[in-house]
Amino acid sequence: MTTKPYIRLITAFLVFSINPFVLPAKSRAESIDHRSINSKVGSLLSKMTLEEKVGQMTQLTIQAVSDTSGPDAGKLDLRKLKDAIVRYHVGSLLNVYDSSLSVGAWDTLITTIQNVATKETRLKIPILYGIDATHGAIYAKDATLFPQPLNMASTFNTDLAKKEGEITALEVRACGIPWIFFPVMDVGRQPLWSRLYETYGEDPYLASQMGTSFIEGAQGNNIGAPDKVATCLKHYVGYSFPLDGEDRTPAWIPRRMMKQIFLPSFQAGVNAGAPTVMCNSSEVNGIPGDANYYLLTHVLRNRMKFRGFVVSDWGDIENLYTRFKVASSQEDAVRMAVMSGVDMSMVPMDYSFYNLLIKLVKDGKVPMWRINQAVTRILRVKFELGLFKDAYPDAELRKQFASPSSNKTNLEAAEESITLVKNEANLLPLSKNAKVLVSGPTADRLSTMNGGWTITWQGNVESLYPKDKMNPLQAIEAKIGKRNVTYLPGCTYDSLLDVDTIAHVAKNVDAIILCLGERTYAETPGNINDLTLPTAQLKLAETAIATGKPVVLVMFEGRPRIIDKIVRGSRAILIGFLPGMDGGEALANILFGDANPSGRLPVTYPRYVNALYHYDYTNQEVTGGDVYDPQWTFGYGLSYTKFEYSDLRLSSQEISKGENLIASVNVTNSGKIPGQDAILLYLGEEYRQVTHPVKQLEAFQKIVLQPRQTKEVRFVITPEQMSFIGLNNRRTIQPGTFKVTVGSLSRKFVLTGSN
Ligand code: GLC
Repeated sequence: MTTKPYIRLITAFLVFSINPFVLPAKSRAESIDHRSINSKVGSLLSKMTLEEKVGQMTQLTIQAVSDTSGPDAGKLDLRKLKDAIVRYHVGSLLNVYDSSLSVGAWDTLITTIQNVATKETRLKIPILYGIDATHGAIYAKDATLFPQPLNMASTFNTDLAKKEGEITALEVRACGIPWIFFPVMDVGRQPLWSRLYETYGEDPYLASQMGTSFIEGAQGNNIGAPDKVATCLKHYVGYSFPLDGEDRTPAWIPRRMMKQIFLPSFQAGVNAGAPTVMCNSSEVNGIPGDANYYLLTHVLRNRMKFRGFVVSDWGDIENLYTRFKVASSQEDAVRMAVMSGVDMSMVPMDYSFYNLLIKLVKDGKVPMWRINQAVTRILRVKFELGLFKDAYPDAELRKQFASPSSNKTNLEAAEESITLVKNEANLLPLSKNAKVLVSGPTADRLSTMNGGWTITWQGNVESLYPKDKMNPLQAIEAKIGKRNVTYLPGCTYDSLLDVDTIAHVAKNVDAIILCLGERTYAETPGNINDLTLPTAQLKLAETAIATGKPVVLVMFEGRPRIIDKIVRGSRAILIGFLPGMDGGEALANILFGDANPSGRLPVTYPRYVNALYHYDYTNQEVTGGDVYDPQWTFGYGLSYTKFEYSDLRLSSQEISKGENLIASVNVTNSGKIPGQDAILLYLGEEYRQVTHPVKQLEAFQKIVLQPRQTKEVRFVITPEQMSFIGLNNRRTIQPGTFKVTVGSLSRKFVLTGSN
């Protein structure tokens, strides 16, 4: 018997038993009566005209129904609004006009909109309003604005992700909005990409765990609850891997990599009950996200069992004609997208989609069953959200808006999301009696700790940021007293200022705190062509280092800018990425010892511009002279205390297929202060039928330990986690020797071929 049938036999058996595509979607909400909803949807659908159905598939941005000029710019234009909802039967709106609104203003806006929809239309179908929420209710004034997803991933704390979901849902619903365009389930494998900070980093398992924990918090077990929302998995799929690193440029992803790296987090989101998916706004293997029948229907529907609805991203259906040039007309673009599996078009400014789709149906180019299918999916979500019962804002929720407990959670998240990667001779924490010089372009602002999607799309209007939140400089002054702090900007993001005075001022300080990094950006405006930190900032750092005073380097950035030139000279380094609105206070707490850092990097931090690799490298990448030599590896992070791992043990040295493996390890805090530690478990198999990562993250837990306390941490490794995407591009498990690694400890076990 040749090996081929043998493998096929094993694969056939195991594909069935462990194929994640057939895992039943966790029941989203035990308390949602799906049967009754289906019957209500069916009954409503039967009354709808073609025009009313196509209207439900149409989403406009709020700008399309607002005054866009003159003194009333930004205000709802009732004539335009009624045109949209009454004449064109539009079923969904999105976005903010230009910047955050108060909860009261949102209440007025949503109430006006729902009044038109539920009182002035024939069938009184409520509007489904959608809003972005990458790090909280970003367009609600004074909302709790969390660390960005890359930072939340740095916490390796799924409890925090769940709490963020709960708080975000409550604060968005307080505005009367029931649908958020989050979590981003894209796996961040391209450090140049301007949207890396919107992802949970480079690992599929970490992204899955953080994203599903967020969904659990945001949706609870009933998205119709007054303080819960519908989430949206985006951007399905492969958007996060642009070959040249620029946003919305081609990605080339072989099927095996798509299944191994990019689909699992979306499958996890589907299993967690997310009721909507947003399309990849770019292209994979020459096929735009909105025109990919294979991914949108065959994979997402037939294999991943997604039951909700798919919405395009901003203007992307028209882009099939104008940008991707795969459709020879706008009409064909609509046909292509709808027949590929897009249920709702984020048009978002006009009625082209509406008019063209009606024409396509009348011309017999789009069948009625497809319209009914899309509208059924959309109406089902509206019923599940309880919008037919009550589409209006719940004033009760305002009492819990940005509550002290939410702010406390946010500060914890910010502290846990900052990663200490260097602390020579335990320079940190600094004494509260220290005299410090603070310098650098990200020291005196809140925007550079929040990034894009903050108050405005680009997040760059500093004057709109809350006055009661502290930027790093203010937080350091509050911590040790203004008299102990000297501030010199030193440089802007890319040009030198008063560096010459640094040396003079440094004479009278104990340490220099350098806050470097990036300006804020979102999407394509954030494109760069060199990951190296701008020269002016490197020069400022070299000047500070040359003073001989200890330099503490703090990086606020949406992606890992290359700083190799100044790492050696910096005595301590904190990677802050984008820690959110409480990032300043969190930083000061860490710098002066009121918080013990516990972050771990969710991405590989590159040392060189052309060495952009990942922690899950294959064996050949570390043999034959190839060196995996990042600045800091995925999962790296230091603490002010010391954690020691011991006695890693496995439930068995030999297991048969289908069996779980239990691994446990003792963790001791051998230092003098309490601390939190994220224990990461990696798994690798010695040989596989395809080249494979030496190790992959398969479990993590975060624990708190008092000084000299020891805890046993237990992990369950399932057969699915021992599987991989094999030669035939199907999930496969191959008997062999596996290695479990936790910290510097490792143990092996054998997976036999027998039952
Ligand atoms: C943008 C983004 C998407 C966002 C949407 C609505 O283009 O790609 O992430 O949710 O438009 O703002």
